[in-house]
Amino acid sequence: MQEKQSIHGTWASRWIFILAATGSAVGLGNIWKFPYITGENGGGAFVLMYLVCILLVGVPIMMAEVFIGRRARKSPINAITELAQEANKSTKWSILGLMGMLAGVMIFSFYSVVAGWVLHYIALMGSGEFVGASSDKAGEIFNGLLGDPKTMLLWHTVFAIMTVVVVIGGVNKGLERATRILMPALFVLLVILLGYSATTDGFAEGFDFMFHFDASELSWDAVLIALGHSFFTLSLGMGTIMAYGAYMPKKASIGSTVITIAVLDTVVALIAGLAIFPIIFANNMDPGAGPGLMFVSLPVAFGQMPGGQIFGFMFFLLVGVAAWTSAISLLEPTVAYLVEKLKWSRVKASIILGVIVWAIGISCLLAFNEWSEFKLFGKNMFDLLDYATANIMLPLGGILTALFAGWVVSKKVSLEETAISENLHTVWMFTVRFVAPIAVSIVFVLNLK
Ligand code: TRP
Repeated sequence: MQEKQSIHGTWASRWIFILAATGSAVGLGNIWKFPYITGENGGGAFVLMYLVCILLVGVPIMMAEVFIGRRARKSPINAITELAQEANKSTKWSILGLMGMLAGVMIFSFYSVVAGWVLHYIALMGSGEFVGASSDKAGEIFNGLLGDPKTMLLWHTVFAIMTVVVVIGGVNKGLERATRILMPALFVLLVILLGYSATTDGFAEGFDFMFHFDASELSWDAVLIALGHSFFTLSLGMGTIMAYGAYMPKKASIGSTVITIAVLDTVVALIAGLAIFPIIFANNMDPGAGPGLMFVSLPVAFGQMPGGQIFGFMFFLLVGVAAWTSAISLLEPTVAYLVEKLKWSRVKASIILGVIVWAIGISCLLAFNEWSEFKLFGKNMFDLLDYATANIMLPLGGILTALFAGWVVSKKVSLEETAISENLHTVWMFTVRFVAPIAVSIVFVLNLK
């Protein structure tokens, strides 16, 4: 039988798929969010919970997304429809893909605003703005940015254009090329920063904070946050990995591929923590400072260190690169769908989608200033999009994906497509049928309260 191909292209190799998926997974979630939620939730015990969630929920669901995409070689909605038809089941499951596209649009809108802050900080760091700055001054700079919609709009626009340009390039000339250049750069930057932080006085303390298991720090709340974050950080629950799976070359076991991606994503998060906490401790700052950790505490810390200007600049450059390769993956599933369904050219689909997410993004950046009074369900636009996606849409998408892969798709198909051993497949099946949906349901329900 002729091997099926995606009309959008195929990754040059299994490794390119791994790097592209890792590029999607590694983003603001790893470098900005993971350290601050670890700091807020007490360190080691939280890190352990997060690792357990990645293994028990993240990995099995990621395997499901990859094989669904790869079998159909289509964008999520069409892939789910095709597999449902193949199993003689309702094609209503494709609503999952629709919800995913919506989630992607919503995530991109606020993600691009935060990525815009990062671009602004690359410039600030490079120009030495933070050299010798007090934490008051750093706080002023950050709040000044939040109160300045024009500057935010500028960088949000730059970031949205950067992302759309890559997506226009398509799977091979856009996504794959960006992956080949940006991912090695990301790893080099990360290793340099880790080497730098290893020489600071706070390294031992930072290491201990992250890996010392203290059961008294465990709370039910922390478990919820860890589980939710394992979805966000692995780009699961909205079809990103499904879309990337559609471009995967055939001959590859999905088990080891997915584990490699999960390990790389986790390693980057841990290294980001190991790069940030020592700097925080060496400067006697608070690891539980919250979302401002990266934009306020860290610049102060860099500003007080020898060489801090250049390392601070490199740090934000690294975050910018990571955010870029993630943002691409938020648009790709929808662009692929528009091309398949409406027969639009990729250029047209990318630009139209880009304008939509850019416009919604503007409402997010105005939430910090002009429109701060405007609230829906007690939240401003920025918080609302973040909350609705991370706490509702991704977990829901995750449960449905697990149920679809475990109960709708036949055992024969999933065994064949995942190409894992029969024993492993039995474990996987049990996880997607029961463990993951139940665990995610608990999170989902508790998050709604
Ligand atoms: N995983 C990325 C991060 O950690 C964000 C991201 C990209 C994402 N694509 C996604 C999150 C799809 C959820 C779903 O920053």
